[in-house]
Amino acid sequence: MTVLSTHSLPLNIMLYAIIMPMQHNHNKYNKFDLIIIGAGAAGLMCAITAASRHKKVAILDHSLKLAEKIRISGGGRCNFTNLYTKPECYISNNPHFCKSALASYTPQHFTTLLDKYNIEYHEKTLGQLFCNHSAADIINLFDYLCKENNVCRHMGVTIDHIEKPSKTYEVHTNLGIFNSETLVIATGGLSIPLIGATSFGYNIAKQFGLKIIPTAPALVPLTLSPPDLELFAPLSGTSFMSEVSIVRGVAHGVSDPTNVGKSSKSNKPMAIKFQESTLLTHRGLSGPAILQVSSYWQQNDSIMINVLPNFAIQEELKNNRSSNKLLSTFLAQFIPQRLSASLCDLLKFDKPISQLTNIDLTKIHKLVHELSMNPSGTLGYKKAEVTKGGVDCNELSSSSMMSKNIDGLYFIGEVVDVTGWLGGYNFQWAWASGYKAGMNV
Ligand code: FDA
Repeated sequence: MTVLSTHSLPLNIMLYAIIMPMQHNHNKYNKFDLIIIGAGAAGLMCAITAASRHKKVAILDHSLKLAEKIRISGGGRCNFTNLYTKPECYISNNPHFCKSALASYTPQHFTTLLDKYNIEYHEKTLGQLFCNHSAADIINLFDYLCKENNVCRHMGVTIDHIEKPSKTYEVHTNLGIFNSETLVIATGGLSIPLIGATSFGYNIAKQFGLKIIPTAPALVPLTLSPPDLELFAPLSGTSFMSEVSIVRGVAHGVSDPTNVGKSSKSNKPMAIKFQESTLLTHRGLSGPAILQVSSYWQQNDSIMINVLPNFAIQEELKNNRSSNKLLSTFLAQFIPQRLSASLCDLLKFDKPISQLTNIDLTKIHKLVHELSMNPSGTLGYKKAEVTKGGVDCNELSSSSMMSKNIDGLYFIGEVVDVTGWLGGYNFQWAWASGYKAGMNV
C-alpha cells in the first residue's frame, strides 16, 4: 500500500475550499439532468461522477455542514475503505445485489483518487485504511471536486415534498422547485439523528411504492439483561481479545457451568464469528467484536464469547497439572485479572491447578470458550454506526441502482438494504453505489 510523502491536500485545493463561496449557479428554472438528495459519502461520489460526465447536477442537503458522517468517522480520521472488501462482508436480504457496484468501484479506485490529490493514509489493522491527517481531507477533496465539476450544491435546504406529475421529478424546497427527470436519493440511514439522519429516503421509497426491509440499528453496543448485567457491569471498562458469535433464538443468560453436557444442538453458534476485542460496559457489551455481531443479533439470540481464542484451555491446564498455581492466577496471565476473578466466581471454585478434576476442566472449558450472554437490546440509533435494512434491493437494478419500476428514481448508500461490517466497508459501499449510479444516470 502506498503511503504518500506530502501531508494533506495540496495548498491550492485548501485555498480553493476556503476562498470560493459555494456556487449557486443553477439556472433560474432549476432544471437539472440530475438531482441528488443527500450530500454525504454516496451523494457526493455520485455528484462528481455524473458531473465529470458533463451532466448538470444539483445536490441538496438539509444540513448546513457537508458530509458530517465523514467528519466524525474513524475517530476523526475516517476509515474510508477496507482492502479486503468482498460481498461476503455485507448483510442484505439479497446478498448478490452489492456485487456489481463493488466490482465496478474497488478500494483501489478510491486510493487512486486520494493518491492523485496527495492525501496520505495508512492501514491500521485488518485492511482498514484511515487518513493520516484528518477526515476533513476527504471532505475538502469532495468540496473541491464538486466546484471543479460545476456541481450546484445547496446546503441547509428544507425539502418539503417530491412530485412526479409527468416524466419530471419536482423537488419542492424552501428555495423553490428543482426539476429533473433523474432523482437520486442518498439520504443515508437513521443512525445519529443529532447530526441530521432522517427517514426521508425510506419515505420517498414508500411514496413511489418500493418495498422496505425493516430497519434496525447495527454496529451498535448491546445492553445486557439484568442478571447478566449484575454479573458483568462491575467489570465495566474491561477489554479483552475474543471470538464472538451469535446463537439464534436460545437466549438463556450467562453460561451456567453446572449445565455441562446438557447443551443441545440448537445451542450451536452461527457460522459467522468475529475475532476482535470485547469491551464490558456499565450497560452491557461493546468493542469491535460486539459491534460486528450486533448487526446479526435479533431479540432472543444469545452471544457466545470465546474469551481465549486460539488457546485450548483444557490442554494448557493439563500441561500444568502439577502446578499449585490458583486457576484465577493462571487465567490472569492471558485475560484481565478482574475477568479471571469473575469467571472463577461463576465456576464457584478457584483452586490450585493440581486439584482440578476432569469435570472441573470441562466446566472451565465451557465457560472460557463458550461464555454465553443474553443481550436485552441495543443502544439504538443514537449510538449505532449504521442502519441495517432499508430499500429492498430487489426493487433496484444492481447495474445502475435505478428502481426497476419507477423510471429515473435511484437509491444509493446506506438507505439501501446493504450493511457492511465494521472497518471501512460502509464507506466503500457508499463510494461504489454512488459511482455506479453516477456512471449510469
Ligand atoms: P450519509 O449519512 O453519509 O449522508 C446522508 C446525507 O443526507 C447527510 O448529509 C444528511 O444530512 C442528508 N439528509 C438526511 N435526511 C435529509 C433530508 N430529509 N433532507 C435533506 N438531506 C437529508 N463507515 C465506515 O466505512 N468507516 C468508518 O470509519 C465509519 N465510522 C462511522 C462513525 C460513526 C459515528 C457513524 C455514525 C458512522 C460511521 N460509519 C463508518 C458509517 C458511514 O458513516 C455511513 O455508512 C456512510 O456515511 C453512509 O453514507 P451515505 O452517503 O449513504 O449517508
